[in-house]
Amino acid sequence: WILILDYGSQYNQLIARRIRENQVYCEIHPFDTDLKQFSARPPGGIILSGGPMSVNDPDAPAFNKEVLDLNVPVLGICYGLQAMAHHLKPGSVSNAEKREYGRAKISVIKRNALFAGIPDENTVWMSHGDHIIHLPDSFDVIARTDNAPVAAVKDHTRPVYGVQFHPEVVHTEHGRDILHNFVRKICGLKGYWTPESFVDSTIKRIREQAGDGKVICGLSGGVDSTVAATLLHRAIGDRLLCVFVNNGVLRKNEFSDVQHLYTEKLKLPVKAVDASDLFLDRLKGVSDPEKKRKIIGNTFIEVFDNAVSEENGFTHLAQGTLYPDVIESVSFRGPSVTIKSHHNVGGLPEKMNLKLLEPLRELFKDEVRKVGAALDIPFDFLGRHPFPGPGLSIRILSDVTREKVRLLQEADAIYIEELRSHNLYDSVWQAFVVLLPVQSVGVMGDERTYEFVVGLRAVTSVDGMTADWAHLPYDFLAKVSNRIINEVKGINRVVYDISSKPPATIEWE
Ligand code: XMP
Repeated sequence: WILILDYGSQYNQLIARRIRENQVYCEIHPFDTDLKQFSARPPGGIILSGGPMSVNDPDAPAFNKEVLDLNVPVLGICYGLQAMAHHLKPGSVSNAEKREYGRAKISVIKRNALFAGIPDENTVWMSHGDHIIHLPDSFDVIARTDNAPVAAVKDHTRPVYGVQFHPEVVHTEHGRDILHNFVRKICGLKGYWTPESFVDSTIKRIREQAGDGKVICGLSGGVDSTVAATLLHRAIGDRLLCVFVNNGVLRKNEFSDVQHLYTEKLKLPVKAVDASDLFLDRLKGVSDPEKKRKIIGNTFIEVFDNAVSEENGFTHLAQGTLYPDVIESVSFRGPSVTIKSHHNVGGLPEKMNLKLLEPLRELFKDEVRKVGAALDIPFDFLGRHPFPGPGLSIRILSDVTREKVRLLQEADAIYIEELRSHNLYDSVWQAFVVLLPVQSVGVMGDERTYEFVVGLRAVTSVDGMTADWAHLPYDFLAKVSNRIINEVKGINRVVYDISSKPPATIEWE
């Protein structure tokens, strides 16, 4: 397996994901973790991640000397390389005159195992302010760019490599090959990590973590919590109880459809609670999206808490948190800027005094879908688009009323139905309708109308962190618009959103 030492880069989980794409297991630990803990199961290779600091900062995270004592291949990426160079004499790192951000061309100047099968000239993604001024004695330069005489190095005394660029991001043309070379060829690891082995090892881990305890799990109707609950059910059987809450802002028929799947197909132990009145009462008159999120988050906790207090003896709370939820909510040192507060991270376990189980915390969405398939969850369900915890409330861009929820549910159901029947549903990452706080004039028959406008949104994306608007066919859009205006009384105009993320976000609020 591969040990990734974390120096705080926003790309760390991408490194992990690339390693898993090579079917090799990996774990991320803090840069200063005690390596002795791995003596019974030594890693087959170590990757030192990038990081936001400069090695010359007074409190910069230091290189752990013991890494080299393990005698396994090492790859330093960006900060990881600089930390190594800074530590090994007479290496030194300094602020570069020309910072390098974005695409750069590297030239391989010495053939080596890391770049096996890769052309001499290729494009990489750089993101650094510092560069190496003096190389440690044992390092040779193996690649350079116009701005950085040291773009990649190899230690001639041992299998230690370093790259100044980020092989883990998609913009590095041969990044996947470079990491493949490191993991499979230089470390010589075989590909044993598959969704099936993830299921086996996670079930084992859940059993260890839960002990004899009882676990409560919130189900949202989405892929993540369903996969998490199915894993838990396999691990601990009836010591699991799932709670599925109707917050009044779910999609059309979702509360009943999803319950059916949970109880009939997946045989999960589910307690379904219809609290839509309570949620909609509390949302009355509220237009501010962050307030909506807070109200839904807090009310959910309250309803969940009540449902649980009718049972007893729970020791753990399970959540289907994924990696993108984690990075958008926290950062290496203290909280990062809150763009939108996603309510599914934090809050609950402290209040309820329960230990947290997050079996999917290291995975990306597409990996969760593969795990779901290995658990025999129906394909249709696994392919469902992500749906935000605050549901339709943040797609009604004004105060939330029952009538607006109903209009939006109807319009959304038509859009999704048409996407499916035109075989477009799986080609977009997420699609939904938003109800704009605008009314416009229309004419139907001989009557003047003055009704709501809806926006259609559809995006393509890999992980939701960046997204492009989907170029859906005009004929399709025409059909959807026509059906919505004719079938949903109260809506007389449909527009299509052509903004990408960034600078827009996927949701409108
Ligand atoms: P944005 O709008 O931030 O959305 O580009 C990225 C992804 O996150 C979902 N989203 C949320 N999910 N609680 C959630 O559980 C929220 O408050 C929330 N806001 C946005 C959004 O649907 C998209 O998939």
